[in-house]
Amino acid sequence: MRAIVALGSAVLALVACGREPTPVSDPVPEDQVVLPSPEDRTRESYLADAKFRRAALEDSLANPDNGYSRDRLAAYGFADAGWELLPAWNPRVVPLTTEITRRMRSGELALPPATNPLWDGNANLDLDGWRELGRRVFFEYPLRADDSIAHALLDPERAAARGLRAASDGSYPGLVVFEDLDGVARIGITCALCHTALVEGRPWPGRARRDLEYGRVRLEYHAETGVPLEPELAARMARWGPGRADITGDDDEDPVAIPDLWRLLELSALTQAGTLRLAGERIADSSERRSHDLVVLAIRQETQIIQAGGDRIRPPRELAWALAEFVASLEPPALPLHDAAGVREGREAFAKHCRRCHDGPAGSGPPVLAQSVGTDRALADSRARGTGRFRPAPLVAVEAAAPYFHDGSVPTLADVLDPRRLAPEYRDGLRGAGPVPGHSFGTELPPAERAAIVAYLRTL
Ligand code: HEC
Ligand code: HEC
Repeated sequence: MRAIVALGSAVLALVACGREPTPVSDPVPEDQVVLPSPEDRTRESYLADAKFRRAALEDSLANPDNGYSRDRLAAYGFADAGWELLPAWNPRVVPLTTEITRRMRSGELALPPATNPLWDGNANLDLDGWRELGRRVFFEYPLRADDSIAHALLDPERAAARGLRAASDGSYPGLVVFEDLDGVARIGITCALCHTALVEGRPWPGRARRDLEYGRVRLEYHAETGVPLEPELAARMARWGPGRADITGDDDEDPVAIPDLWRLLELSALTQAGTLRLAGERIADSSERRSHDLVVLAIRQETQIIQAGGDRIRPPRELAWALAEFVASLEPPALPLHDAAGVREGREAFAKHCRRCHDGPAGSGPPVLAQSVGTDRALADSRARGTGRFRPAPLVAVEAAAPYFHDGSVPTLADVLDPRRLAPEYRDGLRGAGPVPGHSFGTELPPAERAAIVAYLRTL
């Protein structure tokens, strides 16, 4: 396609200065001249231009002073320094299967000799090609080796009870065998470990794996192998519970629920504390907005992979772009249709009481000050990634997103709106008995109106 563009503009340039064009090869009829789309141009800039990446990074950081921002400002977006000097790593990797784990239990873990690197080096792709490549990265690019998960798989039944289950095709979504930098084959984790759930045995990428008990898997590993673990860290892991992880290396106590990844480019910020700004209403043109947000997402994923791997490698930038295209394309599963009773009233009540924050196509909106919400503010204030704010939670397929709030503290939509949740007698909170304060919006409404809002939410 680039050849067509170049030839096309040469022809146009000649026409423009009044001479007869004399093409050396077949002329391209004017109606077939393909100009690069804004997205193609943006991708080229992201791939090739360090200044462009640096500017995009700086623009996207909501709070330049938190640890997340400081790490990146110190190391990312330089032409010839920082993370740019890390080797671009294209790993040899295969998905982990029940067959491989069986052999592993008898002490053998090796890659088949003919295993190729994940990427064949071809970047001449159309949108579907980028997404397909991104899907492979999402399921197969190892973020790092994980001994605790390798240990858990020695007991398949217990592993399944912790959320580590094979799909009906025998593969474990989110787990791979890869050749590590020292040449040794290891079990590795990928994006899909946390961001893919099994729905009737089929992996559904984007859906949070809410039954993953990652903290418990790690505790059991340390208890059973004697590999030491700091008592303070052990105490924190014990409190994570299913579907929650504290993914920062700081000493704040701020475990956060794994979110669904539906329609992310409809949001105005990424992460529940709004750590990264997306274009939102700052860019009116929808294709420019999309390109802008894809860059923010690609930089997020590129830098996440660098840090998860311990600052030893970086992913080829093409793979980070592909991952962004794939993640941005994720859609929720179709929800069962519900009886429409109350939905119309619920929609009206929602517009009156909720829409000022939960706005736009995804029912989210710009992050709001944490004190105006009142939920546990450890994440909003965290030195690692805090901004002082929370993003209004997107409401895409919200019925299937339980438990609710950034810390997964409330079990049902009805309880989100029920004033009894705020009282000391409340026993159903998922971070322990006692009240779950905050986000009291709607709890003052009469029961029928609350029920109508719940009915409406279930249709989103
Ligand atoms: C160990 C579990 C885990 C793994 C592995 C993981 N994530 Fe996440 N991810 C999380 C958690 C927890 C959050 C919530 C962070 C927050 O809101 O502060 C999150 C947030 C996100 C977000 C922001 C979503 C939003 O609502 O704004 C994106 C995008 C994302 N992850 C993509 C990825 C990709 C792509 C990978 C692979 C490179 C990956 N994650 C690997 C647990 C994980
Ligand atoms: C002042 C802004 C604001 C208003 C008004 C508001 N919300 Fe929220 N909402 C938020 C924020 C911020 C969060 C995320 C809070 C957190 O995770 O700690 C949230 C979270 C939620 C969640 C949890 C979703 C999930 O997946 O975890 C639901 C459900 C919800 N709101 C529904 C409502 C309803 C219904 C109303 C109206 C009765 C409402 N909200 C009014 C800001 C608001």
